[in-house]
Amino acid sequence: MGEQTSSVAEAALAALVHLKEDIEGALLDTAEGINEYRIRHLSRKQGQITALLKRIPDVAPEDRKRFGLEINAAKDRVEARIEEATAAITGAGTASAASVDLTLPGRTQAQGSLHPITQARRLITRVFENYGFDVAEGPEIEDDWHNFSALNFPPDHPARDMQDTFFIEEPGTEHDGILLRTHTSPVQIRIMEEAMKEGEPPIRVIVPGRVYRNEAISYKSYCLFHQVEGLYVDEGVTMADLKQILHAFARTMFGEDVRMRFRPSFFPFTEPSAEVDIWWKDEDLPGGGRWMEILGCGMVDPNVLEGVGIDSEKYTGYAFGMGIERIAMLRYGIEDIRTLYENDVRFLEQFS
Ligand code: DAH
Repeated sequence: MGEQTSSVAEAALAALVHLKEDIEGALLDTAEGINEYRIRHLSRKQGQITALLKRIPDVAPEDRKRFGLEINAAKDRVEARIEEATAAITGAGTASAASVDLTLPGRTQAQGSLHPITQARRLITRVFENYGFDVAEGPEIEDDWHNFSALNFPPDHPARDMQDTFFIEEPGTEHDGILLRTHTSPVQIRIMEEAMKEGEPPIRVIVPGRVYRNEAISYKSYCLFHQVEGLYVDEGVTMADLKQILHAFARTMFGEDVRMRFRPSFFPFTEPSAEVDIWWKDEDLPGGGRWMEILGCGMVDPNVLEGVGIDSEKYTGYAFGMGIERIAMLRYGIEDIRTLYENDVRFLEQFS
């Protein structure tokens, strides 16, 4: 053997060392990178491993066996690295420790939530829908007729002052009082007027919506809030029907064992009228709780029915109206109504 031959053998051994460096050192973090790596090493035509196998005859006979074994080991390493890297980029199987840091916190997606008023409104609406009520809406800008007169509030009657009204046009002017509705009850009138154009009762509807009052703002009152109005007019509707539906509602809203009471009250558009309270358990209070008013209700006053052309000898009806904020505050334990209008995400995200 001459010098020529031994330098050829050295070159083959050096190529093997170089190959091992590339096998371990190559960065395999993309699919293209992995593919190039596969071709570079394993391809039959251009692969470095194939090329090295062809150089076995150059190596001194006593080194050939070890040379061959090392090439095979290198080939196994290439295959293992390809498998590992593929698993890491596709996220499947055991990820390689080099590419995934398991101590990093996970990536979370911020989740939105429905406003508590929306949640309470949907819940209330769903309960009455289950009892066969339709859902309707009415305008927030009303006239004096629908908001007051048709509901049996006589002109200059003090009951009008109970509802501090935002007037857009003062009463007595050309349009005789355009205002922001102070309650959802005017929609009762609109619905009955509409129904009488098409025929007769029965009418069975609930009306969720926003209302406005010019009141001093405090923890318990705000210049706008939401109500749900209910109206049922048919032959033979009685106060017992009203009590039954409201009791069923309270059980769904506040639990099967809810205690409720009807307290006589006054509204111009209902006769008799009542307010409904539920017993709110609170161990911190003397007596273990207190009565909380949740709604007003009554039998639709015959004057109201006659005013929209419904025969009050033939038909009777009940009506009720409740504040959504009040119910949301009770259900979710909210103490200050203003927090419902501040849109502070730290407050709102508690209701997701
Ligand atoms: N509209 C009344 C209010 O805002 C609530 C109310 C009471 C509505 C009795 C009704 C009812 O339908 O029958 O104070």
